[in-house]
Amino acid sequence: MDLQDKTVLVTGASSGIGKAIAIAFARKRANVLVHYGRNQKGAQDTLKEVEKYSGGRICQADLMEGEQISALFDDIRRTTPSIDVLVNNAGDARAGDIDDEASWDYEYRNILLSAVRVSHGFLAMPSSRLRKIINITSIYGNLRSGEPEYLQYSAFKGALANVTTTLNRATAPNVIVNAVAPGYTDTPAWAGVSREVRETYAGATLIGRFVMAEEIAHAAVFIAENDALVGQVLTIDGGTALKGMP
Ligand SMILES: NC(=O)c1ccc[n+]([C@@H]2O[C@H](COP(=O)([O-])OP(=O)(O)OC[C@H]3O[C@@H](n4cnc5c(N)ncnc54)[C@H](OP(=O)(O)O)[C@@H]3O)[C@@H](O)[C@H]2O)c1
Repeated sequence: MDLQDKTVLVTGASSGIGKAIAIAFARKRANVLVHYGRNQKGAQDTLKEVEKYSGGRICQADLMEGEQISALFDDIRRTTPSIDVLVNNAGDARAGDIDDEASWDYEYRNILLSAVRVSHGFLAMPSSRLRKIINITSIYGNLRSGEPEYLQYSAFKGALANVTTTLNRATAPNVIVNAVAPGYTDTPAWAGVSREVRETYAGATLIGRFVMAEEIAHAAVFIAENDALVGQVLTIDGGTALKGMP
C-alpha cells in the first residue's frame, strides 16, 4: 500500500507509541485521525507534528464505552468517507492477581473489547480499496512471555493477537490484519518508574536499552506498506523474549 493521501486512524495518539505512529504515517504523507481519550493537549501536540508533513484532525472517545465508539465513527464520517488504515494502539497496563475481578473486567474492556469494537466500526465503513488493521499488542501477550503480575493485560493482549490472525479469514483480501508486539518501550507509560527499575528492564533486552516508540512506529509503517504480510504478530522487543523474561 502506498500511504500517500491515505487516511489513517491511530487510537491513543495523544502519547507515546500512538503519537510516534501518527507522525510516522504523516511523514509518509498520509492524513491522520489523531484519537485521544482524556489528554486533549497531547493530541493537539501530535496534530501539530502531523501537520508538518501532511494533514489530519483530532477525534475523541473513551474506548471503554461502546456508545462513545459509535459517536466517534459518526463524528469521523462527517468529514471522512473512508479510512484506509486503522491502528488499534490505545491501552494501558493494569496489574492484577488471578482473583482480581475488577482488573479482569477493566482490561477486557480496555485492551480487547475496545480494539474489537473500533475494528467493527472501521469494517462497517464502505471502501472499495485494500484496507489494513494494525493491532498494538505486547510481548506480554505472546505465548511464554506473559507477565503474571499483569495477568489480565497479558491474557487480553494474547486474545487480541489471536483476533489479529483469525479475523483475516473473514476479511481478506479486502482487509488485512497484523500486529506489532512491543517489548519494553520508552513512553510516558513508564514515567512513574524509578531509575533502578528502568535499568532492570533495559538490561532485560539484548540491546541494553528500551525500544524507542519510533522503532514500533517504523514497524507499523512497514506492515501497512507490505501487502503480503497477513495475520502476523511482529515482536519488536530488543531481544527480551530471546534472553528470557526478567
Ligand atoms: N510502553 C511499553 O513498554 C509498551 C509495551 C508493550 C505494549 N505497549 C502497548 O502500546 C500501546 C501504547 O502504550 P504507550 O506506552 O504509548 O502508553 P501511553 O503513553 O500511556 O499512551 C496510551 C494511550 O492510550 C490511550 N488510551 C488508553 N486507554 C484509553 C481509553 N479507554 N480510551 C481512549 N484512549 C485510551 C491514551 O489516551 P489519553 O491519555 O488521551 O486518555 C494514550 O493516548 C498500549 O496498547 C500498550 O499496551 C506498550
